[in-house]
Formats: sequence, C-alpha cells, structure tokens
Amino acid sequence: MAFIEIAGGKQLNGEVDIQGSKNAVLPILAATLLVNGITKLNHCPKILDVYHMIKILEAIGCIVIWEASSLIVDTTKLNTSTVPEGYVKKMRSSIILMGALLGRTHTAIISYPGGCTIGARPIDYHLSALKKMNVSLQEENGLICCTTTGIIGTDIYLDFPSVGATENIILAATLANGKTRIYNAAREPEILELCKYLNAAGAKIIGAGKNQIEIDGVDELYNVEYTTASDRIVAGTYLAAIAGTGGEAVLKGVRCECLQSVISILREMGCNIICGDDYIIISSSGRLKPIPLIRTMPYPGFPTDMQSQIMSVLMMATGTSTIVEDIFEGRYQNVQEQIKFGADIQVNGREAIIKGVPLLNGCEVYASELRGGAALVISGLMALGKTIIYNPDFIERGYEDICRDLRELNADIRFIR
Ligand code: UD1
Repeated sequence: MAFIEIAGGKQLNGEVDIQGSKNAVLPILAATLLVNGITKLNHCPKILDVYHMIKILEAIGCIVIWEASSLIVDTTKLNTSTVPEGYVKKMRSSIILMGALLGRTHTAIISYPGGCTIGARPIDYHLSALKKMNVSLQEENGLICCTTTGIIGTDIYLDFPSVGATENIILAATLANGKTRIYNAAREPEILELCKYLNAAGAKIIGAGKNQIEIDGVDELYNVEYTTASDRIVAGTYLAAIAGTGGEAVLKGVRCECLQSVISILREMGCNIICGDDYIIISSSGRLKPIPLIRTMPYPGFPTDMQSQIMSVLMMATGTSTIVEDIFEGRYQNVQEQIKFGADIQVNGREAIIKGVPLLNGCEVYASELRGGAALVISGLMALGKTIIYNPDFIERGYEDICRDLRELNADIRFIR
C-alpha cells in the first residue's frame, strides 16, 4: 500500500518551481479537439488527471506524445464521439469534452462524471446552456447523448458563475454559427488561459476573465503552440505549508495577481509576502494569528480549492477562526482526519470553527480527495513526529510530485510505493 511519510516539525526554506496549472490544462486538452490538427502544449503538468485525459483522447483516436514537459496532441484521426465511461467516472472535468466534441463532430456521448467526492456537483447549467445552443439531449442508462444540427450562438445567463459550465459553453461556441454571450461567466484565471489558447488557434473570444464573455463563432482553428501558466493552487498550497511550518522560501514562475485573496489572508495571519514579476517570497514565524471569517467564493474571492490547506495552518493559530464553505459542501470530510493530529475543529453545516492549538502530533491519516489530501501533507509538516498519509494517489491527481517539491524546501518527506 503506497503512502507518504513525513517527519514533521521542521521549518521550510529554499526555492521551488511551480508546475503547470491542472485546471487550465484540462479544458485546453479538451479544446485540442476543436483544432483539426496539432497542438503543442508547453509546461504541461505530469499529474494523474492529465494522464487520464490523455487516455481519453487516445481512446477516441487522437495521437498524444510527450516531449519533455510539452505535450503534442494530434486530433486529425479523431474517430468517435463516444467518451469511454471508465475514465469519465474517474475525472469530473471530462464533462468539458461535451462542448468540444459537439463543436467538432456535432455529437457527444458521455456518462455522468465522477471526480473528487466533495459535494453533489450537478451539471444542470452545462446541459441547459447547450440546449439553448440548439443541442438535443437524451439521457439513457447514465449516458448523456447530445446531438446538434449545428450549434447556434445565443445569449446565456448563468445563475452561478460555474467554471465548468463557462468552459463548456466557450468550447461549444468556438465553432458555432453566430455570436454567444455568457453573462455571469466564471472569472477564474483558468478561463482566461483557455480563451488565450483558443484565440491563439484562431478563435474570436473577448472578455475572458470578466463576467461577460463574447464568442464569435469561426469556421475552423489552426495548429497552435501554447505555454500553460503555473498552477495557482499548487503555489497556494506551498505558501500555506511555509506559513504553517515557519521559514522563508521563494516560489518561482508564479505571480501574486492570481493569488490575491490567499495572500491577503496569509498577510493578515502575520506572514511577510513579497510579490515579484514571476516569483513570490514568503516568510513566516510559524505561529500565526487567527482569521475571524474566511468564506469561499468564486474568483476573485477566496478559492474553495485552498480552503482545506488554510484550515491546516489555522489549526495552530493563536486563537479561534471560522471558515464558511459556500461552494462544495463535502470538503469538510477531511476534518475527521485533521482531528487525528490533535486539531480542535467543530463543523456545523457549511461552517467550521477552528480553535488554534499550540501543538500538533504526527499520526496516520487517509486522504479522500485532492486538496484535502494536500492539506494533510501540510498538517504532517507542521506536526511533531512521524505522519503517514495513505491514499496518496488522490494527491497525485493534481500535484506532479509534492514530495520532490517539498524536499526542495528542506522538508523531510518521501513517497513509499
Ligand atoms: C472547477 C475546478 C475545481 C474548483 C471549482 C470551483 C476544474 C477542473 N475544477 O470545478 O477545482 O474547485 O471549479 O472553483 O477546473 N454547479 C451547479 N450546477 C452546474 C455546475 C455547477 O449547481 O451545472 C455548482 C456546483 O455544485 C458548485 C458550484 O456550482 O457548488 C461551483 O461549481 P463549478 O464552478 O462548476 O466547479 P467545477 O467546474 O466543477
């Protein structure tokens, strides 16, 4: 049984490069289907979710080759619009293949998605938007069968700025007839990344990163080379780790801009953070102030994907903090593992009250989802003694090699297979 072993209680110091962004690269890999040709994607993270997406692309006829950290995707021999069920169940973001396949082939057959067990995660916004774009939907035996006589651009208002729904609409609209306008669109930096990639391939999209996006349908896209931005959540995770253990470190290849809400919380806790052009320097004493209220929100608010990691840091703050999880209700399942370190956390619905304790103790814990698993790594680094984290494959879904990166920062951590 594989696990991560940590000898905790050490300060973190040093420099680390930040990998390419998971949540940017996954929709971009779906978008490669809209290019009847070749994409070269640089700075592509070698993580399990990317490997799953590659398997899906290969299963539907694409040729995918790694060249160091670049991924070459040739979609010219795409031969089916049916996405194999097994991989879709493993990774929720495979649902964005729907918009891309519809754009390329006018058909998409895909099962309901899986992914992290962090909440209900419905796809009603995706489906109702596609219907408005002239897509017919039928659901049979857990499969969603989508067909269209041609996607038609239209105005779509999202009740909530869903990241996945915004991406699916953009993908469906790129080769559509006419103009699509998305109101209340998600503003996450990964939406901007997707649109920059598509525009580099010949799409006509304006407003990405704002809450109104306009997509003018084009006839075709062209071969393209694109370099993915660094992963803001991986960077945020390492900032939280350094904040929690104390120490001073430089994160390279990442800008503060996309992490403002996290940085402002860490500063409020007492960390010193310097923002460079493409680096961040953080120093922390390791014993930090509590935060009265953190509420997760769509970007630019505090990201749900950083909630569990910040909770780890707050577990040793000098007072009581409150977190309200407004995006994914299932994230608190990680709390039962955090308590094993000696944390004092009470959950009541969407609210978690964290009373800081002076000491955490190493223990054996089980990861059950990606970011919660990363949070357990942070707790293990902060705790005295040995920590074992089982189910590390959840963490490998989004972190290329969390042990390698943290060893760069002087942590005593290793993967045992
Ligand atoms: C994406 C990210 C995930 C991040 C999340 C929020 C990827 C691969 N994943 O997930 O890491 O935590 O954004 O920043 O990019 N909702 C509905 N109906 C829908 C769609 C969403 O009710 O049709 C709800 C969800 O249940 C959730 C909220 O909207 O409460 C946000 O979901 P969404 O923004 O769609 O997240 P994902 O795209 O799944």
